[in-house]
Amino acid sequence: MSKVDSFLKGDFPKKYTWSPDYELGVALIDAQHKKLFLIFRNLVEACKGDSKTNAGGQALELMVEYVDYHFKAEEEYWQLEPAIYALHRRAHYYFVKEIYAATGNIQKQRDISEELLVFLASWLLDHVLGMDRDHFQKLRDLGLVDVSGFCVNK
Ligand SMILES: [Fe+2]
Ligand SMILES: [Fe+2]
Repeated sequence: MSKVDSFLKGDFPKKYTWSPDYELGVALIDAQHKKLFLIFRNLVEACKGDSKTNAGGQALELMVEYVDYHFKAEEEYWQLEPAIYALHRRAHYYFVKEIYAATGNIQKQRDISEELLVFLASWLLDHVLGMDRDHFQKLRDLGLVDVSGFCVNK
């Protein structure tokens, strides 16, 4: 059994299939999270293939690009509240730093480790359902975004 096959066992497919339960009520961010989950699933699929084609490395590169795009979009919300921004930006930075530390030069990365997949998987789910959800709720509580996630007074 390959490394990825063992990773795919259990509840992975169910957990990483986008569900309305994962929505935060902010349409733009929910759409981006949904896409992020899809990109991550594609990465896992790509890692099942022949490592000579570097499909895994390309899929990882795509994920890193999309993560960067998503973090920038999300951080526009966090800037509404400096304390949230500082905390959240640190968490995003940590994630990106960990990916780069694990992969080195992503274009040359042909054998994506199971450890990296597990790290990406757990961080993604924990972050979206944890810090992202909490911080949008805090912005709502502070009256900085409305229930639909639209910025108030911006
Ligand atoms: Fe997010
Ligand atoms: Fe976030």
